Amino acid sequence: GKDGYRHYMEKELHEHPLVIGQTLQRMIDPATRKVVLPDMPVDLATVPRAAITACGSAFYAGVVGRYWLEEIARLPVDIDVASEMRYRNPPLTPGSLGILISQSGETADTLAAMRSLKQAGLPILSILNAEHSSMARESDVVLGTVAGPEISVASTKAFTAQLTVLACLTIAIARARGTLDALGEEELVTALLDLPSKAAEVFTHGDAIRKMATIVAEARDVLYLGRGSGYPVAMEGALKLKEISYIHAEAYAAGEMKHGPISLIDRTVPIVATVPSGVLFDKTLSNLQEARARGGRLLAFTDDEGAERVSAIAEQTIVLPKVHPFVTPLIQTIGVQILAYETALLKGTDVDQPRNLAKSVTVE
Ligand code: F6R
Repeated sequence: GKDGYRHYMEKELHEHPLVIGQTLQRMIDPATRKVVLPDMPVDLATVPRAAITACGSAFYAGVVGRYWLEEIARLPVDIDVASEMRYRNPPLTPGSLGILISQSGETADTLAAMRSLKQAGLPILSILNAEHSSMARESDVVLGTVAGPEISVASTKAFTAQLTVLACLTIAIARARGTLDALGEEELVTALLDLPSKAAEVFTHGDAIRKMATIVAEARDVLYLGRGSGYPVAMEGALKLKEISYIHAEAYAAGEMKHGPISLIDRTVPIVATVPSGVLFDKTLSNLQEARARGGRLLAFTDDEGAERVSAIAEQTIVLPKVHPFVTPLIQTIGVQILAYETALLKGTDVDQPRNLAKSVTVE
């Protein structure tokens, strides 16, 4: 049941802290505080590349994974949505690792893309919530997202569980490749273990996010902006808004705005920005200033460290808890998912069963 929540989506949003914690428990040895993976079908020290494929939100999780794997583990990553990957016959480097991400384990395009990677000789690592699914049966190794059943059609907790697995995978590959020493691993593991309590804190901002939703609910179009690993979070936020509130939303890398979408900006097109403190903060802030100078209404998600400078230019600012920059995408995701939920409530749409959508897309 819904445990007293109004919708499964609301209940599942509230499960973020639990699910992140359960997934970490599966992947981190509490005694050594090291990431421990099952036997891998490739040698992580010498694997030359990874090819990631997935659909929808799972694909956006993969984009975050790509930023992490390339930056922290220095592993080159190809990534594509499954419906493209399966037909475009990309040249795959022999010995590469195929990585699939799926909540259901049954998505037709992802399953077909997986088979094409296998046919090209790639071993398959799947990040799955349904551990007894078609994809699970055909994978060489499965890393489970311990999210429990997800009933709401719009994915919430499965997404942060996917990010949790990808973060642990990044640490293990970085260690094997020698790009992360023991101290570095300890720092990133501490950041991950800190997440469940920080994720729970996001829910203390419910009133502020509801207030932000009143502006979003009046719009016909919304722009989502982010940089670095905040860019796929913007994509996730925009998808969630479209899915359940039927408001058109588009995500852009903040630096791309001046190459086109800035022409859209006026008071009727609010901008939702993910702008956590960190190395990209100043760059993102200056993009937001440009938008504001053109009359855009800025709705920003930052953290304690960015709060002062963001609230100086934004109409509304949500100050999420400050976490290690590595794990900011998880905290920011919870913020933008709640915003979509609150907006859909104001619009009066069917939150758990949005029109035209199915939970598991088993047709091409
Ligand atoms: C978004 C959403 C979809 C799924 C996509 C992949 O909220 O739910 O975009 O993420 O259909 O589904 P799975 O993960 O089951 O392969």
